[in-house]
Amino acid sequence: MSVLTISAITADIGGYVGHSAVHPDLSDVALQRVDAAISQGLLIDGAVNSCGDDINLVMTHRHGVDAEPVHHFAWDTFVELTELAKRLHLYGAGRDLPADAFSGNVGETRPGVAEMEIFERPSEPLIVFAADKTSLGAWNLPLYKIFCDPCNTAGLIIDKGMHAGFTVEVYDLIERRKAFFNCPEDLYDLLSYIGHHRTVRDQACLSPGNPDDPVASTSTSLLSLIAGRCVGKDDPIMIVRCQSGLPAVGEVLEPFANPHYVAGWMRGSHNGPLMPCALDDAHPARFDGPPRVVAMGFQLADGRLVGPRDMLGDISFDRARTQALEMDDYMRRNGPFEPGRLPIEDIEYTTRPQVVERMHGRWEPIEEPTPTPAYR
Ligand code: 13P
Ligand code: 13P
Ligand code: MG
Repeated sequence: MSVLTISAITADIGGYVGHSAVHPDLSDVALQRVDAAISQGLLIDGAVNSCGDDINLVMTHRHGVDAEPVHHFAWDTFVELTELAKRLHLYGAGRDLPADAFSGNVGETRPGVAEMEIFERPSEPLIVFAADKTSLGAWNLPLYKIFCDPCNTAGLIIDKGMHAGFTVEVYDLIERRKAFFNCPEDLYDLLSYIGHHRTVRDQACLSPGNPDDPVASTSTSLLSLIAGRCVGKDDPIMIVRCQSGLPAVGEVLEPFANPHYVAGWMRGSHNGPLMPCALDDAHPARFDGPPRVVAMGFQLADGRLVGPRDMLGDISFDRARTQALEMDDYMRRNGPFEPGRLPIEDIEYTTRPQVVERMHGRWEPIEEPTPTPAYR
């Protein structure tokens, strides 16, 4: 059995119109390049899709995780798309590609990368999730439910392949540190970290039966920290393997029936419900949202990507969509007040500091009252 690598790489090359979608010409060019890379033997297979203004490449190959040729290919593809986006005057063209040259790994720049090396099983169902108008922490709650919550994943109770639980690797991108949590033993400790949408992200879930064979991977590049100011949110991507000793497809999709609140939405500065939607509906509009998630289901066949099936387009997620829109109505009535708007520390990378600067001279200290003897 040979090792197969799955790489899902996403970037915002320029919005059509505003921040709402990817222009079809960009998707066509990306697909031509992927087909050429397959013919040249770099890739086994590849698919091009999008969620909102973020295009994503899902690729299979034998070069391993962080492989320079594959990352270089993705980078060159995004550079070529940027030229096209600039010709079309798309909004924020090339935003996710910094001016300096490719460093060998696109994840160290701005595009989001989820990758894993696996031993392909005789039947290998997997789902690639992509989200727009949100941030990396959007996966924390769903990943917790999929791999750690028996109320979501019946297999944790009744499938002997999963009964021992999973090990979760958590990245703290603000403190630049990572840790493993063995669940269920470390469940409460895990929850004490991953409840924060911003500082901690799940990176990978590992099966205790085979720790070298990862079962989920998420993107971890923190755009706002690399850029030093908000140039948009870190719209995330994630790969999850399913079935046969792993959560079933329906268990992996189940958390998205609950449109949980995530950070992002308008100007990357608001809380909004993560609305599951069909690939054809992944075009944020209202208040540049609401934040959206799509799920591309694939069966692997000797590295070939059979699919995608549009998993969240199914009618069983209609109620979640309706509920998300009701949550939108409620949250928008909060206007610029929390929790409609993110806490101040979470919007420090937006354009707000320039506004604050203008008010600099207006504020004066509050004089503390002189304590009278009675207070002493
Ligand atoms: P598998 O064990 O074949 O993955 O099946 C689980 C299941 O029954 C899904 O609902
Ligand atoms: P994106 O991060 O998806 O480009 O959205 C940015 C934004 O400001 C939306 O209002
Ligand atoms: Mg986006």
